[in-house]
Amino acid sequence: MGSITFVEHDGTEHTVEIEPGKSLMQTAKDNGVPGIDGDCGGECACGTCHVIIAGDWIKATGVASDGELQLLDMTPERADTSRLACQISTTEAMNGMVVRLPEFQM
Ligand code: FES
Repeated sequence: MGSITFVEHDGTEHTVEIEPGKSLMQTAKDNGVPGIDGDCGGECACGTCHVIIAGDWIKATGVASDGELQLLDMTPERADTSRLACQISTTEAMNGMVVRLPEFQM
């Protein structure tokens, strides 16, 4: 069992257990991590689950689809390592991963 740490815009950290196979968005919501809305329920249709993956951990999250990239293009706080959390399936290989939350979801 491993853990992932979400860091809010103000620096507040939330370390949560990985449940392999659950999306990063659902993992955050199920653990009460604020700052991820997930309005479309994980259908890659709203863009309100934007997160910024810290450093090299981006490699562990896989490749974003064209649809995800289009939504990210509309995200004001987009960074080089931005992803939509609903499109990331968590694995134990993500133990120790740090995920930063933007100040606002669009
Ligand atoms: S929850 Fe809507 S795009 Fe991720």
